[in-house]
Amino acid sequence: MKKKFISMAMAAVLGLSLVGCGSGPDNASSGGKDNGSSSNSKGSSSEVANKDKPLVWFNRQPSNSSTGELDMDALSYNDKTYYVGFDANQGAELQGTMVSDYIKNNIDKIDRNGDGVIGYVLAIGDIGHNDSIARTRGVRKALGTSVEKDGDINSEPVGTNTDGSASSVKDGEIEAGGKKYVVRELASQEMKNSAGATWDAATAGNAIGTWSSSFGDSIDIVVSNNDGMGMSMFNAWSKDNKVPTFGYDANNDAVAAIADGYGGTISQHADVQAYLTLRVLRNALDGVEIDSGIGKEDEAGNVLSEDVYVYDSEHRSYYALNVAVTAENYKDFTDSTKVFDPVSKQLDSGSHPSKKVWLNIYNASDNFLSATYQPLLQNYDDLLNLEIDYIGGDGQTESNITNRLGNPGQYDAFAVNMVKTDNAASYTALLNQ
Ligand code: BGC
Repeated sequence: MKKKFISMAMAAVLGLSLVGCGSGPDNASSGGKDNGSSSNSKGSSSEVANKDKPLVWFNRQPSNSSTGELDMDALSYNDKTYYVGFDANQGAELQGTMVSDYIKNNIDKIDRNGDGVIGYVLAIGDIGHNDSIARTRGVRKALGTSVEKDGDINSEPVGTNTDGSASSVKDGEIEAGGKKYVVRELASQEMKNSAGATWDAATAGNAIGTWSSSFGDSIDIVVSNNDGMGMSMFNAWSKDNKVPTFGYDANNDAVAAIADGYGGTISQHADVQAYLTLRVLRNALDGVEIDSGIGKEDEAGNVLSEDVYVYDSEHRSYYALNVAVTAENYKDFTDSTKVFDPVSKQLDSGSHPSKKVWLNIYNASDNFLSATYQPLLQNYDDLLNLEIDYIGGDGQTESNITNRLGNPGQYDAFAVNMVKTDNAASYTALLNQ
């Protein structure tokens, strides 16, 4: 109520000066000053053109969703542009190994119907998202079910494959306890809802319902590209049927579920990623070395060690490293929203004055981004003296988000989580104006 009143009052005051300069009410916060430069700003403390401001892409790396090729125009948009994510291949390999180790260690009880075939189903997040593709490949590789396509592991969904005839996978083989077993991907599907949102947990819950009602006793393992979908399948079916289910992200609910039989998950070190997302902006805004508080200790004592991230300078990309979370170590991962201790020290507001940042989350109902990543960002923004406007998208259309970047001149820096990895230009176009 109060907020509304203030903005209405401001609009009334500004009303006069807006008349005649052609600005609609959307431009009110630029103070009605339209001098053709994009650096005009009321909220922002800088006089820098939007195209020269720090920009970080995170969680969805600008890339071609069909070929995976990185979008270098977006990644090197200006000299203060970076990407922050995690090492998708290292994580995918860990996830695959975690599942295959589980099978080997539990071989005496894993084949529920005793047919000699270890059957798994796979929930795919987004067939055009390089992290999702890597995880599908990692699981197929570790379980011996992968086939090649165009020089890489085929990551296409199989639909259903209960008879083992699908061409995008093959039957694998595992030898354990002196016996040979076939490993088969019984079914896999992209979990996209009818409105177009990917990584959709509810869709995964429905899929396991369909799969289990037609070939439930052949399913020995459930694997998912993320915990949101994994937990949905666990709660809908596998928990009651005692079928180990594996996800990715180490969200709080998934880690807690390990005590109830969830097989395991992968931490993509969101605590390190959220820090890096904001830290690269902070450093660029301060005009200091980009490595400050990252590879090099800052004056407050923040520093990351080499075992938690890598920097790929060619692609201007920071990648956090992943850790497997299983029954053996899950108690160390129960709070996914806790800041990472080595980078938890408050920056001095004299040498790092408050700056305004626009940041969006592609889908406000994505479990990982809303339950883990954003709370972490909110913990770090205070420590780094950044005042952030958090914008939550619908996961379906880029314009739902870009429409809310009507006045970039108000901000000192930008952090973008695209709906689709191909769409970087929708954001940079706004900054170019
Ligand atoms: C996470 C998923 C999430 C996706 C969104 C991935 O890194 O593992 O849980 O849905 O990012 O882009």
